[in-house]
Amino acid sequence: MLTANEIRDSFVKFFESKGHQIVPSAPMVIKDDPTLMFTNAGMNQFKDIILGNHPAKYKRVTDSQKCLRVSGKHNDLEEVGHDTYHHTMFEMLGNWSFGDYFKKEAISWAWEFLVDVLKIDPKDLYATVFEGSPEEGLERDNEAASYWEQFMPADHIINGNKHDNFWEMGDTGPCGPCSEIHIDSRSEEEKAKVPGRELVNKDHPQVIEIWNLVFMQYNRKADGSLEPLPARVIDTGMGFERLVRTMQGKTSNYDTDVFQPIIKAIGDLSGKKYGDDPKIDVAMRVVADHIRTIAFSITDGQLPSNAKAGYVIRRILRRAVRYAYTFLDQKQAFMYKLIPVLIENMGGAYPELKAQQGLIEKVIKEEEEAFLRTLETGIRLLDKVMADTKAAGKTEISGVDAFTLYDTFGFPFDLTELILRENGLTADVAGFEAEMQKQKQRARNAAAVETGDWVVLKEGETEFVGYDYTEYETSILRYRQIKQKNQTLYQIVLDKTPFYAESGGQVGDTGVIVSEFETIDIIDTKKENNLPIHIAKKLPEHLDAPMMACVDTDKRAACAANHSCTHLLDEALREVLGDHIEQKGSLVTPNSLRFDFSHFQKVTDEEIRQVEHLVNAKIRANIPLKEYRNIPIEEAKELGAIALFGEKYGDHVRVIQFGSSIEFCGGTHVAATGNIGMVKILSESSVAAGVRRIEAITGARVEEMLDGFQDTLRELKSLFNNAPDLANSIRKAIDENTGLKKQMEEFKKEKQAQMKERLLSNIKEVNGVKLIKLCALMTSPEAVKNIAFQLRGEITENLFFVAGTQFEGKPTLTVMLSDNLVAGGLKAGALVKEAAKLIQGGGGGQPHFATAGGKNIDGLNAAVDKIIELAGL
Ligand code: ALA
Repeated sequence: MLTANEIRDSFVKFFESKGHQIVPSAPMVIKDDPTLMFTNAGMNQFKDIILGNHPAKYKRVTDSQKCLRVSGKHNDLEEVGHDTYHHTMFEMLGNWSFGDYFKKEAISWAWEFLVDVLKIDPKDLYATVFEGSPEEGLERDNEAASYWEQFMPADHIINGNKHDNFWEMGDTGPCGPCSEIHIDSRSEEEKAKVPGRELVNKDHPQVIEIWNLVFMQYNRKADGSLEPLPARVIDTGMGFERLVRTMQGKTSNYDTDVFQPIIKAIGDLSGKKYGDDPKIDVAMRVVADHIRTIAFSITDGQLPSNAKAGYVIRRILRRAVRYAYTFLDQKQAFMYKLIPVLIENMGGAYPELKAQQGLIEKVIKEEEEAFLRTLETGIRLLDKVMADTKAAGKTEISGVDAFTLYDTFGFPFDLTELILRENGLTADVAGFEAEMQKQKQRARNAAAVETGDWVVLKEGETEFVGYDYTEYETSILRYRQIKQKNQTLYQIVLDKTPFYAESGGQVGDTGVIVSEFETIDIIDTKKENNLPIHIAKKLPEHLDAPMMACVDTDKRAACAANHSCTHLLDEALREVLGDHIEQKGSLVTPNSLRFDFSHFQKVTDEEIRQVEHLVNAKIRANIPLKEYRNIPIEEAKELGAIALFGEKYGDHVRVIQFGSSIEFCGGTHVAATGNIGMVKILSESSVAAGVRRIEAITGARVEEMLDGFQDTLRELKSLFNNAPDLANSIRKAIDENTGLKKQMEEFKKEKQAQMKERLLSNIKEVNGVKLIKLCALMTSPEAVKNIAFQLRGEITENLFFVAGTQFEGKPTLTVMLSDNLVAGGLKAGALVKEAAKLIQGGGGGQPHFATAGGKNIDGLNAAVDKIIELAGL
């Protein structure tokens, strides 16, 4: 029996023997395609070629691509684990022809590989072909059918509709009919009862699609119409895990050696057995599936987070934790312990996993722990919702509550339902779905971009000349309009451009394009599927005039300084903290730089200073730039250049060297490190488990900051009469101030004590009540309160203390009573409240002690008298 690794190998080797170049999988996380966050098909990494942005280096290519799908026809995240053949992450085996062979070879090689190489029984194979679409003016794909007929009986060739058999890359762009190969792996007995052809595309778990051959021959325009594609493309995708299952004679993908080692490890860790209980099996499949997705995304640079792609990963991780918590009794982080097994199995094909094992484990463990805490809160919330529902005499919880549990606490709906069922309750399914739809709509609205068709003025390929020039003569190749959030912008492609398009963390250039008629501002430059796009608010009126493209050179120089500085920082961090430092992201703007890297503790102030000193020494050494442009990747590796995980490199790369700092890099850089001027690290913080962030400034910004420091210092010095030792003078002033405050406190206490003594010697007895009256200027409410409580401490019976005082222009009334008077029916709160009217104020408090503030000082005496009168004294 072939192992999974052998099957993957045999596929690419087979196509290599048919003249295909084997290429590595692109990262699973996508950086320069606004329509996609993750690679969801093998063709993603070739979109620039298929769209005609770049010529194909090889006309025939093959690979195994790591893909992630969390939505789509069958791939709703909530479904994964419930069946035996859908996944979030999967590998797609593919072969491509860019303007070379077409349907005939694609079909006959697919057949040859499955039947001659893998020895799959031809009678188990079915092929679908596009049935045509009258409203699109498309006929049945008779061409494909005729090739299939050479291999299969007619009743194994099945017509399919536009939904299944017409593949589109996106809303617009290359598309075409496709043929899917389905395999029937049921028992002979079952096959005899119901022919396989009746089960194709019917969600039968044993009759499944394994390979999709797409024949791209049209271009879909923005108005929905189709036009023929000049260079036709073959794009095929075979589900690796499904193929392995077929080859290993299993009925479930999870029973193959792709998943079994992980499932076994889950069993060992949880003490549960796969195959005993359907609920446990689902949970094990969920964990086994999700751990791959999570590990591979972290490897490719996408950490779990609160937004966008990071949030997708966080949700997948949380779903696995929730299943493990409920059905595998895992109340503590445990998934991170599966990483060694995953690496043992997939580390050969994907060495990037092993290289980052420590980081992957650390990130997963911390995420698991954080979510387990959230989960406990969610369970408490659900308990409360259930109790409230029961108390209200209802049996159904609202869709909104179920959705909150799902969205905020990561409770899959079916698990909420399960817990409810155990408690004799249900959830409002329609309400839940309505909330879900609302959220999807919100997401769609936020992302909605209306993109017009490209208007092509001139054929040709765009060329970036910005490494050598910041001004260049050029003309417009094509442009299009885009509308987003009520703003209309234009995307312009130039034939030659000095503008650097945002990538590798460095922001895009800004500047102008100038012709003899007009000047147009370029507000940003971005890359879309490898195509540099200049963004303008306005189109030139004379579109075909010769122009000069001019980059804003001040900004460019500041960016270059910051970019070169990140390289020096990277090297210095390794030197100070160790070789485990890996760059995990960066942001280079004209104003500052940000550098994220893997490291498991806080970087100390002392270490930061060492790093700064190292970098500044290199800046002063004025090391000249050595640039290797377009050298073979092997040569770059021999130079010892550092590559980034999750970055897509071609077989020719650019390398930037400043002395011993050597990195793969496409950014713009200074001619020599002296141009950086100086670096100052402003902050060091944590971005995620195991990832630290440094923010720094260089050059003129450091100068500005130093000027600011100097101004502050000067001001301080002059406040302290230019004292020679400023710190000492400030310390002395602080000490003096503390001493004075203390004295003041003592003085206040003494005064209060005197006042209290005076009051005690002035007690007036009225009907057995000891009436103490204080009418005084300038006594703070706080002091009166202190005195009141001291009096209460000393006179435990029959105390009636009333004060009318003023402080900082405001009158205050205070009443303090001993408990026996309160028991006798007097209430301090009621007394002050009534009397406060006379000082135009209000207040209250407890029965024994109350205060009121007001505005009218002149009413104070009357108010005090009123209190005495109200008390009947
Ligand atoms: N791009 C095709 C698919 O994803 C092969 O099905």
